[in-house]
Amino acid sequence: MVLKFEKSFIIPMFVIIILVITCASQVVSGRSMHEPSIVEKHEQWMAQHGRTYKDELEKAMRLNIFKQNLEYIEKANKEGNRTYKLGTNEFSDLTNEEFRALYTGYNRPVPSVSRQSSRPSTFKYQNVTDVPTSIDWREKGAVTHIKDQGQCGSCWAFSAVAAVEGITQITRGKLIELSEQQLVDCSTDNHGCSGGLMDKAFEYIIENKGLATEADYPYRHEEGTCDNQKEKAVAATISKYEDLPKGDEQALLQAVSNQPVSVCVDASGRAFHFYKSGVLNADCGNNCDHGVAVVGFGTAEEENGAKYWLIKNSWGETWGESGYIRILRDAGLCGIATAASYPVAI
Ligand SMILES: *[C@@H]1O[C@H](CO)[C@@H](O)[C@H](O)[C@H]1NC(C)=O
Ligand SMILES: *[C@@H]1O[C@H](CO)[C@@H](O)[C@H](O)[C@H]1NC(C)=O
Repeated sequence: MVLKFEKSFIIPMFVIIILVITCASQVVSGRSMHEPSIVEKHEQWMAQHGRTYKDELEKAMRLNIFKQNLEYIEKANKEGNRTYKLGTNEFSDLTNEEFRALYTGYNRPVPSVSRQSSRPSTFKYQNVTDVPTSIDWREKGAVTHIKDQGQCGSCWAFSAVAAVEGITQITRGKLIELSEQQLVDCSTDNHGCSGGLMDKAFEYIIENKGLATEADYPYRHEEGTCDNQKEKAVAATISKYEDLPKGDEQALLQAVSNQPVSVCVDASGRAFHFYKSGVLNADCGNNCDHGVAVVGFGTAEEENGAKYWLIKNSWGETWGESGYIRILRDAGLCGIATAASYPVAI
């Protein structure tokens, strides 16, 4: 069976799943007066996402997958024990196996998080004891608007930039939008749109003595040649970065109490693909493959007091809770504390 898709599917990538979701962040929000049939729902969805198929055979096959995904979404939404809701999005006609097949099929020899150097046992915030019950760095003005990586596996750059924007605002009292494109183009230890690591991005920023603003070096959704002039127009910098102990959510709590933190999560599952709202508390693996930023934590009273991490994603504002996802805390969910790190200001 040959998949017929737009060009977004043939970009070889380390984080192909992310890329795929990236292009798919439009969430269906409309609801009609009567309950439409599955064929009608599929037609509506196709129109909404501009999807066409090469023939009726393929359409029938995709309808079937769409139906299964919708059933998964509706079933999950009905189960009382889930503290989150799912919804359809642009990739609702793909099986999860197709995502996985694409992912492993494009698994090129680029740095993987698992190959990162061993994690330390000491870190700056290890003796922090006054951890609040909740924190939201957005309320403290340390988080810029939700960005959209588009058809480019640059999640690592967005994750790193969110953490640097955060610590810059915290130490300098000024929120400055910084450039992901500069990291994509100039951080040569990373692989641009084919994937990368937040720590390598921090290393580049340290070596370059800073990062330009988003306005000066704007995002283009594709890899380009490093602009050496813009590269030197730095607006914010860091002195070093620190890794948190692997799998230690208490350490993550201590760090996030003090600043937004870059983390890697497993975004390969259907629950993550179709996440719409609430606290994700199931169906998430721990093979982290997507860089995001933890910008807070808290307890969701409306979800039976579920403790959550507040995460800034880079798939635009239509995915999840206006671009954010809340993930169950202290449960090892989505491998959230696998590879956490944060920049240290000058
Ligand atoms: C934390 O406390 C221990 C024990 O007193 C000390 O050895 C360590 O240096 C402290 N860590 C930091 C980062 O201050
Ligand atoms: C919810 O209940 C279903 C059916 O009993 C079960 O399969 C699933 O694992 C449960 N999910 C959670 C998050 O407990």
